[in-house]
Amino acid sequence: MQIAIIGTGYVGLTTGACLAHLGHTVRCYDLDTSRMDVLRRGEVPIFEPGLSEMIGRNVEAGRLSFIEDPTDAVRGCKFAFIAVGTPSKSCGRIDLSYVEAAASDLATLMPAGSTIVIKSTVEVGTARKLSHLIAMKRGDQQVTIGVNPEFLREGSAIRDFLEPDRIVCGADDPVTAERLGRIYAPLTSRGAELVQLTTVDAELSKCTANAFLALKIGFINDVADLCEKTEGDVRAVAHAIGLDHRIGRAFLDAGPGYGGSCFPKDTRAFAATGRRFQASQGLVETLIERNEERKRKLARRIIQALPVSGSRRVGVLGTAFKQQTDDMRESPALTIIEVLEDAGVEVSAYDPEAMRNGRRLLPRTIWASCPYEAATDVDALVILTEWPSFRSLDLKNLSKVMRGRKLFDFRNVLDARKCKSVGLKHIGVGRGTDLGMGYQGGEARLQRPL
Ligand code: NAD
Ligand code: UGA
Repeated sequence: MQIAIIGTGYVGLTTGACLAHLGHTVRCYDLDTSRMDVLRRGEVPIFEPGLSEMIGRNVEAGRLSFIEDPTDAVRGCKFAFIAVGTPSKSCGRIDLSYVEAAASDLATLMPAGSTIVIKSTVEVGTARKLSHLIAMKRGDQQVTIGVNPEFLREGSAIRDFLEPDRIVCGADDPVTAERLGRIYAPLTSRGAELVQLTTVDAELSKCTANAFLALKIGFINDVADLCEKTEGDVRAVAHAIGLDHRIGRAFLDAGPGYGGSCFPKDTRAFAATGRRFQASQGLVETLIERNEERKRKLARRIIQALPVSGSRRVGVLGTAFKQQTDDMRESPALTIIEVLEDAGVEVSAYDPEAMRNGRRLLPRTIWASCPYEAATDVDALVILTEWPSFRSLDLKNLSKVMRGRKLFDFRNVLDARKCKSVGLKHIGVGRGTDLGMGYQGGEARLQRPL
């Protein structure tokens, strides 16, 4: 099938590359010409494991191309996926202007008998609103609209796309539903589950999924606070409850609060939708406040541990909102570092992938070329992203270059006893015990005698 992708960000690029990988002929278009230039040169503007290779293979095979002109991009296509950004408005609602602009252009560019697929995360009712707009603009109902929300995570985008827990397709007529199903036949024939819904239910499913996952994180972060006051260990509690299949272990890692381009924006949008339809989403409203407060609270905890006078310096390891991405949108590191710097603390930071974005977003921060440089002469060191390389840091070396002894491990990546053995005071999240014989991590073995 010939498919056009409008928008080549994380979702558009992954969708384009993966659909080409499944055998479709895919043409991608983005109105950001510099991004298109980069892609046409064979480079990939974002860090996403495996994406560059997959794009390269499919471009070479002639199944994937980057087209500068939208008319050329959609020529002959039966489908156009809209994968443009949907940022937050100040009221919390989603700014649909990019989606609406793309749909408005596509309304006249797409041939009769084709379908526009909304891949972007949108508010409930968007597809029906756009369907009306497209029909008005064309003067016919020959171009239909479907909703195909994306559930991939940055850092594992390709695997999430090709091995999905489910594929959700929303349509309000059987012809569009059947067309959407055909796009994913290469995956459903291998056993992927296709969930066909109305456009409204597909839109609601996407924002509800993100709100629910964010609630799990918010809940375990509150439990972490309780563990700290009660000699508990949140990792042990998460393991114990996570084995109950009704709960599940995923998204129960306590940390500095959720971030990224999606959970913060989508929880705000979910709450705003509740307010708009007088169906208050009180749990999510509270979650949003608590998640914001958590980042500030952790920053204050660091400040309290610093010397009261003299020049104060903190090292930060990890600024991406999670591992395996260079994305720093709404990363907890942004708030935590800003609170530190506003309090007059000098911050030196290191991230394996996100420093290009970091330099732009945090102009006061000093950027180091390795973790040990970031840790040199600091009063305290803070881990904010769970990069695998941080698990194997040379603790002896860290201890040697640091001025102070405190290591705030807000992702629980390090072994407290090993830190202690080199003279560092390990302060994890949700770890109220310093007994040195608690939860061992990994496959979850409780060493504490019964
Ligand atoms: P992004 O900001 O990385 O990329 C969006 C791209 O769309 C930009 O390159 C921009 O130039 C382009 N664009 C905007 N208007 C355009 C237009 N009219 N025509 C052509 N191109 C246009 O965004 P993203 O992270 O890929 O997210 C896209 C959507 O997918 C959002 O709604 C987001 O909520 C949703 N989503 C994102 C993820 C994720 O992990 N990033 C996962 C699932 C869903
Ligand atoms: C999230 C969802 O997981 C995807 O299913 C969804 O498609 C996407 O949002 C979206 O709609 O855009 P993503 O933002 O890439 O994906 O990252 P996650 O892995 O979900 O992590 C989000 C945030 O929660 C990160 O800051 C992460 O560190 C944090 N998190 C996650 C925790 O603090 N604890 C956990 O146990 C899991």
